[in-house]
Amino acid sequence: MNLSRRTFIGAGAALAALSSSPLLASARLDTLRPLAPRRDGALPGAGQVVEAQLHAKVRPTDLFGRGELPLWTYHDDILPVIRVPQGGRVRAHFKNDLPEHTSIHWHGIRLPNHMDGVPYVTQQPVEPGEAYVYDFEVPDTGLFPFHSHCNTVEQLGRGLAGALVVTGDETRTYDADLMCVIKDWRLNANGEFLDFMEDKGASRGGTFGTHRSVNFETVPTLEAPAGGDVRLRLMSIDNSRVNQVGLEGQVDVALIATDGQAIAPTSFKVWRLGSAMRIDLCVRMPKAGETVKIYDYFAPEPVLLATIKATGPGLKRGDFDPAPLYAPTIQEPDLTNAIFKRVEFSATAAATPNVIAMPGGEELNLADALCLNDKTFWAMNKQTWPEDGHERMPAPILTLKKDRTYVFELVNATPHMHPIHIHGHTFLYLKSNKRSLPKHFTDTVLLKPKERIHVAFKADNPGDWMFHCHIIEHAETGMMSILRVA
Ligand code: C2O
Ligand code: CU
Repeated sequence: MNLSRRTFIGAGAALAALSSSPLLASARLDTLRPLAPRRDGALPGAGQVVEAQLHAKVRPTDLFGRGELPLWTYHDDILPVIRVPQGGRVRAHFKNDLPEHTSIHWHGIRLPNHMDGVPYVTQQPVEPGEAYVYDFEVPDTGLFPFHSHCNTVEQLGRGLAGALVVTGDETRTYDADLMCVIKDWRLNANGEFLDFMEDKGASRGGTFGTHRSVNFETVPTLEAPAGGDVRLRLMSIDNSRVNQVGLEGQVDVALIATDGQAIAPTSFKVWRLGSAMRIDLCVRMPKAGETVKIYDYFAPEPVLLATIKATGPGLKRGDFDPAPLYAPTIQEPDLTNAIFKRVEFSATAAATPNVIAMPGGEELNLADALCLNDKTFWAMNKQTWPEDGHERMPAPILTLKKDRTYVFELVNATPHMHPIHIHGHTFLYLKSNKRSLPKHFTDTVLLKPKERIHVAFKADNPGDWMFHCHIIEHAETGMMSILRVA
């Protein structure tokens, strides 16, 4: 396997067999510690600039020992990780040598609109052979994916993504900091790429991959100090699949962050992780030689994703008492004068082709013009992306008043799950008609079938922001819209 990749993200490569009946772990936490108060004064990264070279091109790679796959990646380290301290700047020098245009979207980062990386909406696409510089400050700590925002079904399907880690939220250093990036691949029996999307998947729950991976490896084994408290960052960059992640066995574990944003350490059993969603866990490692296993329980038989092996002499950390993170930098929205809006996610009555007749008799294919699939299956407040009959950009689904606080009721009128993502802002999850989760910040909130969720946020970042389902094929077949903050 590719060694540089392993050192980059700290993952091993050994194979582990699928265990037959994994038992769920859960925390035995009686007293939970609150978050550490938000830090005052200068952020740790203030004044620092992290330069990153991202060079998108085809990099044939033998990922799974079944022959070379024509991956599209940003770097020779095929799953690049950029680390930057909170308050610092990322300056990403991007060069596109892919066969088609693209851009980079920095998912979950509250940045200025023109750095958001959405072709036609926030910038012109970066054509093959062209370069572009993304330069922005990172206001929040945590783990964030970055990916393209055009023909994403294929671009992300071929591996074009990376991770941005914003450091500086730890009140006490953990004994290890591990990352598991979850992604499936669509491969046929010969190990070649299958079509990245099929109508029957796109119009339902999604076109799932056939081969699971973590950190682009098959069931890797990571290592952490025996007896230590490990920070485990889990992130899905899959196009479609919702994993229900959990750990096997008698292991103490607490949830400490959602979508990178700290929450007071809380007991953890499982979490539904849709495309682009993240959670951070604090895991107490067992004795040397023993393992912690990470499963997807959302399958007829739980699927082993990765193993963490306990190594070394064995640390003595006393009773499990996970160190809290610093409170998020985002202020809790003040709900007293919040404006209420309902957003309904539904299927369209019929698949609408995105080809419209022009007055002169020719046909204009909106799919080419707007980087879309040529069919529409989904809608938000009955509008599809693009809105029927529009030659160019659809009108915003909602125009929000700058600096006002909004409560959105997200209504799922379909029998499928949809991870709903907002650009440029972060939601505060308030409540659901189906689940009782703790209040938490999230940029991608999973709507279960027929679920209604209330989220709040302050519309403090001006611009046109994408608001869409993160099942990429749902977004590209209609479940995508623009929110205007002005
Ligand atoms: Cu991670 Cu609009 O996307
Ligand atoms: Cu969806």
